Amino acid sequence: MIFSLFSDVADQSLFLHDLMLFFRERPEIRSCKDSLLPPRPMKVGLEFQNVSFLYPGSTSPIFTGLNFRLDMGQRVALVGENGEGKTTIVKLITRLYDPSAGRILLDGRDLKDYDVDELRKEIGVIFQDFIRYDLTARENIAVGDIEKLDDDASIWEASRKSNAMDLLEQFPTQLDQMLGRRFEGGLDLSGGEWQRVALARAFLRDAQILILDEPTASLDPMAEHEVFQKFADLTQDRLALFISHRFSTVRMADRIMVLSKGKIIEDGSHDSLMEKQGTYSRLFDVQASSYR
Ligand SMILES: Nc1ncnc2c1ncn2[C@@H]1O[C@H](COP(=O)(O)OP(=O)(O)OP(=O)(O)O)[C@@H](O)[C@H]1O
Ligand SMILES: [Mg+2]
Repeated sequence: MIFSLFSDVADQSLFLHDLMLFFRERPEIRSCKDSLLPPRPMKVGLEFQNVSFLYPGSTSPIFTGLNFRLDMGQRVALVGENGEGKTTIVKLITRLYDPSAGRILLDGRDLKDYDVDELRKEIGVIFQDFIRYDLTARENIAVGDIEKLDDDASIWEASRKSNAMDLLEQFPTQLDQMLGRRFEGGLDLSGGEWQRVALARAFLRDAQILILDEPTASLDPMAEHEVFQKFADLTQDRLALFISHRFSTVRMADRIMVLSKGKIIEDGSHDSLMEKQGTYSRLFDVQASSYR
């Protein structure tokens, strides 16, 4: 027993080494010295200037010299085929990665000049692979802004905006309903219902930039339409970026940008892009024709 105990200690200490390495890990993206607070309210918006980007360890760049502007007050839909780099653009805006070359400006200053944590507080984003936490409904929504965990009014308001309110009201313990199947009394939701709960996270934040990356993929068309309407109302003088493969929703945006081969190849309103008879109108017609 003594020997096997010693060999156990030796075994486990290997994991301890991993743990120590993990604790020593520091984020590579940090605020610079004398970092600025992001402007409130933001006046101009975001601008990508000659942005090139290559994932670490990869050999082919996703973008080389990408240029575009997103003005405050605009509701922009970003479309493009799978793997064109739409989510990558979101990761660059939220500074999960920095561009390999070029600059991203917020109100005329490089994103790197701003405090990273403060910048991220100004951006509400739901990624397409959002996380389903085995926690209560309240906690699932409050991960969007943990300081509002006990602020029932704000949590209900966020859930109203994301169309999750009717769902939450049906639970016997409402906001305190345990979600997921891991814990006793937990209730599993459908894909679309989880999405509504996750969406409320973005609405809980008082962010000036709101980004939804295919957050509505498992919502039924009526629900997606409603979410988009609320999203549009909510973002009156903010900046809203919406990524979707569903053109019935995309057409409601003020401005549509088509990303292809690392470039914005088309940019304009639904009507102007349809008139142009380019990539957008082709993609739109393909989807529309399957409903006729
Ligand atoms: N962490 C990573 N490391 C290396 N390559 C990556 C990484 N993440 C994404 N990629 C690659 O970058 C490219 C763009 O990916 P991205 O997720 O931005 O596409 P997307 O336009 O959002 O596609 P989809 O419509 O499927 O969501 C893809 O070719 C992908 O394989
Ligand atoms: Mg994506």
